[in-house]
Amino acid sequence: MPEPNAPSSRLPGFYKLSVEERLDALAALVPLSAEERYQLRKEALAVGLADQMVENVVGVFGLPFAVAANFRINDRDYLIPMTVEESSVVAAAGHVAKLVREHGRITASSTEPVMIGQTQIVDLPDPETARRRVLEMRDRILAIANEQDPVLRDLGGGARDVEARLLDTRRGPMLVVHLLVDVRDAMGANAVNTMCEALALYLEGLTGGKVLLRIVSNLADRRLARARIEVAPEAFDERDWKGSVVAEGVVKACAFAEADPWRAATHNKGIMNGIDALVVATGNDWRAIEAGAHAYAARDGRYKPLSRWDLTPEGRLVGEIELPMALGTVGGATKVHPVARLALRILGVASARELAEVAAAVGLVQNLAALRSLAAEGIQRGHMTLHARNVAISAGAAGDSVALVANQMVREGRIRFDRARQLLRHALKRAGEEVQRMETRLHDRSPEPPAPKPEPLKEPGRDKP
Ligand code: MEV
Repeated sequence: MPEPNAPSSRLPGFYKLSVEERLDALAALVPLSAEERYQLRKEALAVGLADQMVENVVGVFGLPFAVAANFRINDRDYLIPMTVEESSVVAAAGHVAKLVREHGRITASSTEPVMIGQTQIVDLPDPETARRRVLEMRDRILAIANEQDPVLRDLGGGARDVEARLLDTRRGPMLVVHLLVDVRDAMGANAVNTMCEALALYLEGLTGGKVLLRIVSNLADRRLARARIEVAPEAFDERDWKGSVVAEGVVKACAFAEADPWRAATHNKGIMNGIDALVVATGNDWRAIEAGAHAYAARDGRYKPLSRWDLTPEGRLVGEIELPMALGTVGGATKVHPVARLALRILGVASARELAEVAAAVGLVQNLAALRSLAAEGIQRGHMTLHARNVAISAGAAGDSVALVANQMVREGRIRFDRARQLLRHALKRAGEEVQRMETRLHDRSPEPPAPKPEPLKEPGRDKP
């Protein structure tokens, strides 16, 4: 059912506005306090707060905070907050979300938010008996675990099950006890680690072994998020491309990734471009998400793409993704970081499961955006302008000179640091000459001399006949 209070995610022309105008447009959909506006524009994270978050703080590090438009997932609109440094990620996500919104549908689902805590037991006198005893005492183990977190229990979560696995390692046999914990809306690492630590003495007594590691597993394969896109091939019709050809190209790109881990890594990187941007924006642990995703991609013993694209008999393009998604909407930076809090408000999710579903959908849309461009015009055209702007800035351009230098490099089809420096020097020289002319005029009070014809911008190596 569509959420009645969800703001529309259609933001036509949003990209053409200034930052201030975009904030106004956003505030019309998600009310922003003066403080939130200030934080977005000036002080995303106060250094005093940063100092409380980690050790040895000497400052804060800024990244762009953007909103991707057009997402409609499970018949509900979402504005997707994204924190990412790479050009084109946000624009590509919003563009493909629009195509799918107009020509198809995105659905998503998730499992219960169950995390796994691992306890490693070594130096066992009888590993098999130890394993059996752990399973026999399942209820007692769960009771000890649940005593550690009455709040989680009251919220409907808590330790749910116990598993015991024997491992043959190069340091002898080990017993690994898995504690399965429903962590509700938390990312869950803290709750799980606390339970595992509290169980150590009991497990040593039970098994006669020695407990070593007690830690959450980032292969959170009991906490999965899934998304599915179905879209008509006409969505990809363009002047130079027939949509059905692009759709077939997307399926072939996926088949390439299935057959080749080198390609699968890049395919999955494209998925994580979207997921990580959302995960970072919401103050979640992106290393945990990355670790889980890639371990899951290799769960059959071979590294594979996390998504799969196919064509239906009617020629519609269908993509599916499934991956671990240990995300929280409470605790950690999600509640401490003011912009992460705002990101969750912009998103308007009611639970960590809903956030996980949105993240899976964003990953799949981002994947489709990458495969669509790769199967058609190639990735560089879309990347070009934004990339050129970044190169111009890194070469020292600021203000109006950024667009001047970037546009010229795009026209030339050469986006290079040395060329940006050359163009920038040229632009500065011309600006200096202009200032000098003005000063001379003021000084002489002479009538305005005709301005010299501007020297054309020359491309390197092309100035000789
Ligand atoms: C670049 O950040 C991501 C892509 O390489 C993903 C892909 O190749 O599928 C474009």
